[in-house]
Amino acid sequence: MAEERNQADDGGGVATTDGSLSVTDNRTGETYEIEVNDGTVRAMDFRQMKVSEDDFGLMTYDPAFTNTASCRSAITYIDGGAGVLEHRGYSIEQLCEGSSFLEVAYLLVHGELPEQGALDYWTYAITHHTYVHENIKNLMEGFRYDAHPMAMLLSTVGALSSFYPSAKNLDDETERYMAVVRLIAKMPTLAAFAYRHNLGLPYVYPDNDLSYPGNFLSMLYKMTEFKYEPDPRLERALDVLWILHADHEQNCSTAAVRAVGSSQVDPYSALAGGIAALYGPLHGGANEAVLRMLDRIGTVENIPDFLQGVKDRKEKLMGFGHRVYKNYDPRARIIKRHVDEVLEATGSDNPKLEIATELEKRALDDEYFTERKLYPNVDFYSGLIYEAMSIPTDMFTVMFAIPRTAGWLAQWLEMLDDEETKIARPRQIYTGDREQDYVPMDRR
Ligand code: CMC
Repeated sequence: MAEERNQADDGGGVATTDGSLSVTDNRTGETYEIEVNDGTVRAMDFRQMKVSEDDFGLMTYDPAFTNTASCRSAITYIDGGAGVLEHRGYSIEQLCEGSSFLEVAYLLVHGELPEQGALDYWTYAITHHTYVHENIKNLMEGFRYDAHPMAMLLSTVGALSSFYPSAKNLDDETERYMAVVRLIAKMPTLAAFAYRHNLGLPYVYPDNDLSYPGNFLSMLYKMTEFKYEPDPRLERALDVLWILHADHEQNCSTAAVRAVGSSQVDPYSALAGGIAALYGPLHGGANEAVLRMLDRIGTVENIPDFLQGVKDRKEKLMGFGHRVYKNYDPRARIIKRHVDEVLEATGSDNPKLEIATELEKRALDDEYFTERKLYPNVDFYSGLIYEAMSIPTDMFTVMFAIPRTAGWLAQWLEMLDDEETKIARPRQIYTGDREQDYVPMDRR
């Protein structure tokens, strides 16, 4: 039981012990039987506990959902204590070894690995929906030259809602499917346009001959050459990074997509909500913050002072710690293996890698971090790979949003099909004044 409970604490573990709780309300002396299913009690079962007829009933309080399951999901399994991540039951290690990002996107969305014909069809559909309406391009041009690419991405994904008004027909299977294909297909195009906009370069249109990551590299880097030929090592590294970021169960942005989507708004608007959540430095913005932190540390010699600053709570060790992983984030382990490969492919020698490696080593040798189970997360090394690919720091979170689109969509579809779904509407504990008399301005 303890082990099962621990798994659930660490996020995603399925505890199978069913049973019940006998709960005595000491305010009234009443005892209630509360069902336990999947290691979980239903918050609504507590509402019956009242001190009087007109009492609202007992609520549960969990401001950051640290111990509250908001849905049932069959997409991603995490055992944070053991450092395990699986999509539809397949381990992240095996998927990174043998699969491609588009196949993993299919797996997340459809629930099973595709046969060759299904994968070909899926790849064809996504490849042939990568273009965006020219007016989206014009919209992009309206941004300041230095607009943050995440702000541009979030606005243009929201704007797509107006280009596909029929996407709000949520009961129409074809509409749902087309929205899924369009969003996965167009996200790299919007991301690359944002990048080119910042540089004042003309936008590069998608090339249907290239792979999903190869096409993205072409839209970023193509200059005067007739045809851009991506380096297969970079294409593969990007594909692996995107597999690693494809889904991560009920994180902040996915919870946002589900909450916004539960209002039955169209998927473009729901995903814009997810992008906004991902933009924050505690979520997708962390890889950007890691690089800025490594820049600030500057040299290996400064690491002890920096770590002291973290312990004195003047600093945060960005790229460390995770709400569900209380062990090494399995994604960080895989990324770390690809850093050297990418540096070799790009011929760059990044001094920040030395600082990052030493910082990790010292933090993992330090009781302050081990006691709190703070280990590197996915963002600790991903920024170094992006930097080696000459992707500017501002683009890092965008690089996260592209693959996470597949996860958001899989979760959005699952939410729509779940018969327990209702509009998300948390309760509050009201702490303000009541029944005040309005005071006119001249008497305040
Ligand atoms: N540096 C220093 N101390 C930390 C850090 C950190 N990065 N993360 C947590 N702690 C400490 C925290 O101060 C607390 O200490 P104490 O118990 O003495 O008060 C303890 O560890 C527990 O932390 P918490 O704030 O209760 O943990 P949380 O689950 O609320 O926060 C987190 C998780 C990811 C927001 C946090 O670890 C953090 O801010 N990390 C840095 C930002 C980062 O790398 N984010 C990327 C997450 S991975 C990408 C994704 O999946 O979104």
